[in-house]
Amino acid sequence: MKAAVSIANDTIKAWPNFTYESVLDASSRINWRVDDLIGGDKHLDFAKPFMPESLSRVDPLPFLSTKERLVLNQLRGHSYLYIFGLVEEFILPFVLDHVRPLLSGSNTRTRAFLDFAGEEAKHIELFKRFRTDFLESFGTNCDVIGPPEAIAKAVLSKHPLAVALVILHIEWMTQRHYLDSVAEDHRLDPQFKSLLKHHWMEESQHAKLDTLMVREISEACSVQEVEEAIDGYLEIGGMLDAGLMQQVQFDIEALKNATGRAFLPEDMERLIAVQQQAVRWTFLGSGMSHRNFLTTAELLVPGAKARLEKIVPLFS
Ligand SMILES: [Fe+2]
Ligand SMILES: [Fe+2]
Repeated sequence: MKAAVSIANDTIKAWPNFTYESVLDASSRINWRVDDLIGGDKHLDFAKPFMPESLSRVDPLPFLSTKERLVLNQLRGHSYLYIFGLVEEFILPFVLDHVRPLLSGSNTRTRAFLDFAGEEAKHIELFKRFRTDFLESFGTNCDVIGPPEAIAKAVLSKHPLAVALVILHIEWMTQRHYLDSVAEDHRLDPQFKSLLKHHWMEESQHAKLDTLMVREISEACSVQEVEEAIDGYLEIGGMLDAGLMQQVQFDIEALKNATGRAFLPEDMERLIAVQQQAVRWTFLGSGMSHRNFLTTAELLVPGAKARLEKIVPLFS
């Protein structure tokens, strides 16, 4: 597990120097298709783990056999695919709504955001295709939270600045997952790792565009709306946390069904607790504690960084 990155508050003075031109330039040099990564002769290899240990946390569960830990790791991978697809279902319309009112402005800005939206639509397809491949081979039922439209509707009902902060959190979180945990993990299934790598490549541009988007939205907000943004961000985080906790229950049911395993009450308690924190770190703590996310939060609301750093241990 990575500890929260600490940065001194007095170093946070100016917005990062991201530009639409540089993002568009980087985006235009990355070009992959979903068919390049999955389908045809390219399939998941169930003899290997899909997720790094820092995100799956199967090692602190000694009452599971090696095979059962592998199955749980792969179930974590399945949930990761599903939940990423789910959050991207609300990112896509949000980005389109953000770009639409200013189509007559900078052409570079419009193209950068349209590329962003197009890439998220591609990612939704990517996660679905990998999930289909997973389910075809896994053999037993894997329930999931949702439907994505209902979760998207609930998230998008919140203030746009709070939603933009959640999206920024997700983009930096993706960077952290790949760079800190996936890139150097050579045990992982190459196909699953390839998905994470190609997603990371495009999300790198999204994180910068989201920073620009947060700044633009905040500049159109009242002082009170900006001050309330962190509260709104945390409210959405709480909604997502409730969904994640339900997903852990589904994953443990799927583990029982796939392995035929029954657990002693104390082992079940430990299994739930460890997996809840694994999922909380994966989707909440690792984004909330990313130094670039904290920098933007502090620029918006002085004191936000210290406030968030106090909450991170709940999700670590
Ligand atoms: Fe994405
Ligand atoms: Fe993204």
